[in-house]
Amino acid sequence: MAELRSQILACSQCSHLVASRQSVVLGVGDIHAKILFVGEAPGAEEDEQGVPFVGMAGELLTKIISAMGLSRDSVFITNLLKCRPDTQGPATGNRKPSSDEIATCLPWLDRQMDLVQPLVMVALGATAVEGLLGKGTAGISQLRGSWQTYRGIPLMPTYHPAYLLRNQALSEKRKVWEDMLQALEKAGYPVSAKQRGYFLTRD
Ligand code: URA
Repeated sequence: MAELRSQILACSQCSHLVASRQSVVLGVGDIHAKILFVGEAPGAEEDEQGVPFVGMAGELLTKIISAMGLSRDSVFITNLLKCRPDTQGPATGNRKPSSDEIATCLPWLDRQMDLVQPLVMVALGATAVEGLLGKGTAGISQLRGSWQTYRGIPLMPTYHPAYLLRNQALSEKRKVWEDMLQALEKAGYPVSAKQRGYFLTRD
């Protein structure tokens, strides 16, 4: 992992991203994790800190992981793209990675996967799912909750935590939670009756 780390940190294949980035955001967590989460790309805060999922969506992901009985240290968290897609400065928000950027960066994720050898992957949001499974696949609302495969590893597509921040409906939280229950079971983690009941009612 240390060798891969230094190779990714030195990557200069997307010259426009090299020019705009503050950090290369590799990934965090256990290099022997059973569950590997893949997001889209670093945002402004992630670019600033060099750590994936530390902004508002990241805080929600961290809460989801702790509801699963796990921690950021016991899973592995990374993104399709290791560099923030360039915009006109942090204030202008984020843009979706282009297909070329994804195709260029994906081999780094594959190398991370080969080292971590997760039992399960969770793809967060439509862009991550499309980046991993290809453009012709069904939309995220159809795919979420049903097992897919990426390079031989079971892949659970689910909604991006940023979507849950925009849509606070209990029904949407429950959908993501059911996806996480499936991921826990597939990875061999115990699931309590209490956990099974999360996000069914508002109390
Ligand atoms: N959204 C992502 O997809 N990845 C991050 O690291 C942060 C926000």
